[in-house]
Amino acid sequence: MNKLYIHPLPVRVWHWTNAFGFVLLIASGLQIRYLDLFQLMPFQLAVQVHNWIGFILIANFFIWLSFYLFTDKIKVYHPELSPVKYFRASFRQMQFYGYGIFKGDPNPHHPTAYHKFNALQSMLYQIIMMMLVPIQFFSGVLLWDVTRFASLIDLFGGLRVVDSVHVLLFIVFVGFIVVHVYLASLGHTPSAHFKAMITGYEDIEDEPHADRAV
Ligand code: HEM
Repeated sequence: MNKLYIHPLPVRVWHWTNAFGFVLLIASGLQIRYLDLFQLMPFQLAVQVHNWIGFILIANFFIWLSFYLFTDKIKVYHPELSPVKYFRASFRQMQFYGYGIFKGDPNPHHPTAYHKFNALQSMLYQIIMMMLVPIQFFSGVLLWDVTRFASLIDLFGGLRVVDSVHVLLFIVFVGFIVVHVYLASLGHTPSAHFKAMITGYEDIEDEPHADRAV
């Protein structure tokens, strides 16, 4: 079994701060929204936790962005520009997750330091990190001080629209985390990818057809 250094330290620190923060945002967000259904924490505390963690994660996002923008590691986020190649790779990956994995087939994706994501991860992580996370943070900042940002809120269609976008994305993120954690457990052992996100090193099996990636 060889080891491949796949997750640099800044990515790992960003990722676990982000993951832990999202769990706290979800818990405090549920408490703020469904005051009658949950008694996880007092309402005022939930608002404060939500605001503080929100701003910490916005700062954390810029650490992630700067790391990728100012190093050659940005290559891991470069999209496949040939649609035919991209759709073939996505289809192979979907076949593996939906069918092949249950027969013990090898994972069709073999990661390298600059090509660590399979076709599905590559697309999903781009949508999450470059579109959905920024929209969620931006709508959160607008809702944080509705008086100060009244004109911007009006520009985007009013409080109802901004609030609905924030809540809909919250639902998307809850779904994403469930699917993400499930897919992350499909390494050569259930904990392999979690360990890799802690140590930075992914195990690469020696046999040419062994399962090697998410
Ligand atoms: C809550 C628990 C979470 C766990 C246990 C978890 C676990 C993992 C693991 C094991 C990996 C490495 C395998 C892979 O590349 O898929 C990973 C990567 C990643 N996760 Fe998570 N994750 C969590 C939450 C999140 C959240 C909330 C987000 C974003 C909103 C997120 C975004 C990402 C991204 C973008 C990567 C690729 C990072 C990179 O290498 O640039 N994760 N996650």
